[in-house]
Amino acid sequence: MKALIINGSPNKNGETVSMINYILSKYSGEYKIVNTYYVSVSPCTDCRACSTEDKCAIDDDMTEIYEYMRICDRIIFASPLYFSQFTGSFLSLMSRIQLFCSRKYIRNMDNNLKEKKGLILLNGGGSTVNTTGVEQCGRILMKEMNVSEYKTVCYVGTDKRSVLEDKKTVDELEKAANFFNET
Ligand SMILES: Cc1cc2nc3c(=O)[nH]c(=O)nc-3n(C[C@H](O)[C@H](O)[C@H](O)COP(=O)(O)O)c2cc1C
Repeated sequence: MKALIINGSPNKNGETVSMINYILSKYSGEYKIVNTYYVSVSPCTDCRACSTEDKCAIDDDMTEIYEYMRICDRIIFASPLYFSQFTGSFLSLMSRIQLFCSRKYIRNMDNNLKEKKGLILLNGGGSTVNTTGVEQCGRILMKEMNVSEYKTVCYVGTDKRSVLEDKKTVDELEKAANFFNET
């Protein structure tokens, strides 16, 4: 089993990383972590090259990430909330999945991605009260990644207490980890 983890936090030992590590501590498969801040991936420029061929015109670290997106059985989107949304860096990298969307919606082919299970891991300092937007965006991204089933763990309150100090969130992470690991 192969898992791809897309981490949209700039903090190398922050709250998002602790959520990811909790899941991985219970996961027995192979995995690849992509931190959107520390890979060299440009945003999609809507050049339309992928409207006619199965290739992105931008040659960067995304080439390898595309391949893992195609073959993985599990995917995690993990991000702090920035203005109640995934971070800009996360969304910038994810804009490149237009390659798969073009294949499906413009070229009328299947998106050539293995069916997967997913997790969305989110955390915020405390200013967010409404997560409707980020949840909707996450749902769309999961669909375009060919995810058949996913769970979301969202904790808002890191200004006062870290994710792993919140018992309810740890319980949710435990359930999410079991869901993620089971075949
Ligand atoms: C630019 C910016 C925007 C933020 N916007 C929000 C927000 O809308 N809602 C919220 O609850 N926290 C917000 N925060 C706080 C972070 O989400 C919070 O500190 C988070 O736990 C950081 O996670 P990390 O340690 O994984 O980077 C924001 C922080 C920054 C730097």
